This record gives sequence, structure tokens and C-alpha cells, in this order.
Amino acid sequence: MSKYPKSISRICCIGAGYVGGPTMAVIAKNCPNIIVNVVDVDVERIMGWNSSDLKKLPIFEPGLDKVIQDTRGKNLFFSTEISREIELSDLIFLCVNTPTKNRGVGAGKAIDLKWVEICAREIAKFSKGHTIVVEKSTVAVRTADVLENILNANSQKNSFSVLSNPEFLSEGSAIEDLQNPDRVLIGGVDEKAMDLLKEIYANWVNEDKILKTNIWSSELSKLTSNAFLAQRISSINSISALCEKTGADIDEVSKSIGADNRLGEDFLKAGPGFGGSCFQKDILNLVYLCEFFNLPEVSKYWENVLTINNWQKNRISKLIVEKLFGTLNGKKIAILGFSFKANTNDTRESAAIRICLNLLEEGASLFIHDPKVQKNQIENEFKNQQMQNNSFEIKSSWQYSENINDAIQDANAVLILTEWEEYRSIDWKDKEEIMSSPAWIFDTRSVTEEKNLSKTKLNFWRLGNINTANN
Ligand code: NAD
Ligand code: UGA
Repeated sequence: MSKYPKSISRICCIGAGYVGGPTMAVIAKNCPNIIVNVVDVDVERIMGWNSSDLKKLPIFEPGLDKVIQDTRGKNLFFSTEISREIELSDLIFLCVNTPTKNRGVGAGKAIDLKWVEICAREIAKFSKGHTIVVEKSTVAVRTADVLENILNANSQKNSFSVLSNPEFLSEGSAIEDLQNPDRVLIGGVDEKAMDLLKEIYANWVNEDKILKTNIWSSELSKLTSNAFLAQRISSINSISALCEKTGADIDEVSKSIGADNRLGEDFLKAGPGFGGSCFQKDILNLVYLCEFFNLPEVSKYWENVLTINNWQKNRISKLIVEKLFGTLNGKKIAILGFSFKANTNDTRESAAIRICLNLLEEGASLFIHDPKVQKNQIENEFKNQQMQNNSFEIKSSWQYSENINDAIQDANAVLILTEWEEYRSIDWKDKEEIMSSPAWIFDTRSVTEEKNLSKTKLNFWRLGNINTANN
């Protein structure tokens, strides 16, 4: 008898985070005959996923609430019953976190596989018969070897097929990305297991978009894909500074170069620096791998993408100090947007963290507004940064503002850091009346509309543009 099932009927996903939750919801929606169980050690997170109030889901993603409503309790379940679901499932997705190592060999660069390893040991312990184990977390190239070793060394009776199936969704458009992916990548050596995974996706993804590769190509493609995307942002951000010196306009330059089909228009939007949980950690991992394999020129090349990203954040805060007469002591600055991009409540590695801490260090008093980010998240991000950098001390204060007007009232400056739709339509004529005078608008996302500013006396600076109004 074949060790493989005829088709997959029960899936377990370990990790109910930004990837596990939405990805499994979309699989459940498109595969009504498959039972999908998402498990996590985080009890509070699982309670959030099971909340009857869909506004209390642990993750904000446009369209996610509808998919959850349609599937939860039918063929999609969230629980903390990890061992039980491992035992009952034919196929297990690993969607756990893979952050940068903070100690030991490779600290500060290599990916920490601790959580992946713990899962492998749990799977070896509780699985029954043959189990397909799918790496969906982003991992270093050759991690599948580590997984196979742990699985086989810890289980005598059972067998495993390890596949790589990296996730390419972007936060803020996760449901759309999962429903209509550019491609689905399946890496492996076991053709039968690869076909069973392919069958799941074929329920809604066109077969020519499902690419099969060798397992190492699949693992490395994920890191490379993120590195290339981040590289484009650092490239355009470096040119934004040159625009400010020369009179060129970064949005016009982006549009002009993006019109070349060979370049394409995406990922050419200059901004305060890329954030998110993955670009930095994945590039650091690539840098580490290149160092490990003795390719110093290659590692230096990719490291520079991060150097420019940090430089962009720091140059924005320096510029603000300069424009506000060299000191921020006793000045109120309204921060509009704290998430790392619009349409998500995720703040991990957001450019806002570093920029705000720089301004606080200069003595500014910050009033932070974001339509989806909670106060305690901002607190945690500041604390984490302080823990990573012991010498750093917050010398001034910040407050959370529930609405835009509270943040802007009496402010000496407004700094726009996230491109939330509601910031585009702000009528600055109205806001000018409640701000201090003279006052500044610093727009790092190019969301401010000329028509909403033209009748004001506000000083205006837009990233990548020399022609600032009224100064
Ligand atoms: P996350 O931190 O939001 O979620 C990970 C979850 O795994 C957490 O809830 C954690 O409690 C759980 N977990 C960890 N160890 C566990 C264990 N042993 N048993 C059960 N649960 C455990 O992370 P994320 O943003 O969903 O990212 C997950 C992976 O996907 C990472 O490797 C990341 O690089 C990759 N990825 C993320 C994105 C993204 O947009 N966030 C996109 C593509 C790929
Ligand atoms: C990114 C990739 O786009 C996904 O394909 C990948 O799956 C994911 O990382 C991951 O592995 O975690 P994400 O970080 O969710 O997705 O969001 P992006 O849209 O890529 O934005 C990342 C950062 O770059 C944000 O801070 C955004 O504001 C910034 N960005 C993006 C720009 O500054 N300019 C742009 O033109 C595009």
C-alpha cells in the first residue's frame, strides 16, 4: 500500500501569525473538502482568531474578516491543540517566526531556526505514518536538510517528505495576493509529495503559475526575491536625496524610469525607508550566507541595501531638526502613521520607530496617530529598540492621539510617515488654524495634495523634491 494518501484531506498549520492565519483562511475557502487546522502556542492569539467580533481578529488585512466568516467553524479551525493536529494531519505547514539570531554564531545576521527546530521535534514526536512537512516560513538555504535530520533522528516508525513552499504575500494586500498569486513555488525531491501539494493550490491557481524547482532553488528564491524588492527601494531612496539637491522630482523620475518595460513601475516609490518584519532580516540572512560561503564582495553588495535604508531614516530626522532652527526642545511634532505601510496594523521594523526615537532624543514632544496601530504596540516597539541599544535613552515624551486633530493641535510640525488614505484628503487650510506658527508639514510619502496646501502659509517639505512651498 502506498504511504501517500490519494489526496490531502487534513492540513495542520503551525503558527497563526500574519502568514499562517490569512494563508490557511484562503486555502480553506478554496478547498472546502480539506479540513484546515491552525495551531499556535500563543493562547491570546488563538482567542483572537476565534473571536465572534471580527474586528478583534489579531491581524488587520482588507478582506480577511469576510474569508474568516465564510470558513471558520466549517473547514477552518484555530486551536492550541498542537500535538493532536500534528497526529491527525497528512500535511503540515510550518508558518512560525524566523527572526534574526540575537546571540551565538551568526548573531545579528543569521536566521534563528529555533522555532522551526522546535516544530520539527514536535512533528517527529506526534506524527503518525507518512507526513508531508512544508516550509512556508522564510528560511536560510539548506534548512530542509536540518529539518530532515531532526525529523528522521527523532522518529523511528514514521516517515517524512520535506518540501519548500515559500510565501510571497505582502501585508495590506495579503488576501488578494493569496487569491491571485503571481506564482506558487514548490521545491522538493519527492515528486509525489510535490504533486499532492500542487493539487491543493490547483483548486484556484492556474497550473502554469505553479512552479516546481529543486528544494535549494526554492529556499534561495524567497530570500533573493525580498532582497531584489528591497534593493529597488534603496535605489530610489538614494536618488530621492539627489533630487532634493538638484531640483529633479522623485515622483517624476520614478514614473519616467518605471515606464521602461524592462524596469516596470512597481517598487519605485521613495519613502522613509522600508520596514516590515522580513526585508531587513532576509537581507541580513543573505549577507550571512555569503560571508559563510566566503563571498565577501557579494555580502557587501547586499549589506549596502540596508546601509542606505538606515541612512534614509536618519537623514529625515536630521533634516527636521535643521528646518526647525536646529533644536526640537519643547517643540510639538505630530506623527501621522506608525505602521510600516498602509492597510496593516503591523509595526515591525517600521521606519517610524527609528525616526521617532531620533526626534525624541532631540527633545521633541511627539503626538502619534495611526488609524490601526494601538498605543501598547508603539510602547513595545520603543522598548524593544531601547533593549537592543542599551545606551539609548528617551529624553522627552510622547503621547498617543486618538484622532488627527488631537495630534495636530498646537503642533510646530506634522510628519507623515505612513501613506494612509485618510491623510491624503486632509484639508490643511483648516489644520493651519489649530497649529502653531510658523509650522511645517514634512511629507515622506508624497500623499499631500497641492490643492489642499496652496492657500496656506504652512512650510512644506516633500521627500525627493526641492520645491518646498512657502520656504
Ligand atoms: P508571526 O510572528 O506573525 O507568526 C508566527 C507565529 O508562530 C506566532 O504566533 C508564534 O506564537 C507561532 N509559533 C512559534 N513557535 C511555535 C511553535 N513551536 N508552536 C506553535 N506556534 C509557534 O510571523 P509571520 O509574520 O506570520 O511570519 C512567519 C514566517 O513567514 C516568517 O518566516 C516570515 O519570514 C515569513 N513571511 C512573512 C510574511 C509577512 O508578510 N509577515 C510574508 C512572507 C513570509
Ligand atoms: C514584502 C514583499 O513584498 C512580499 O513579497 C514578501 O512576501 C514579504 O515582504 C515577506 O517576505 O515578508 P511586505 O513587507 O508585507 O511584503 O510589504 P511591501 O509592500 O513589500 O513593503 C515593504 C516596505 O517597503 C514598506 O515599508 C513599504 O512602505 C516600503 N515600500 C514598498 C517603499 O518604500 N516603496 C515601494 O515602492 C514599495
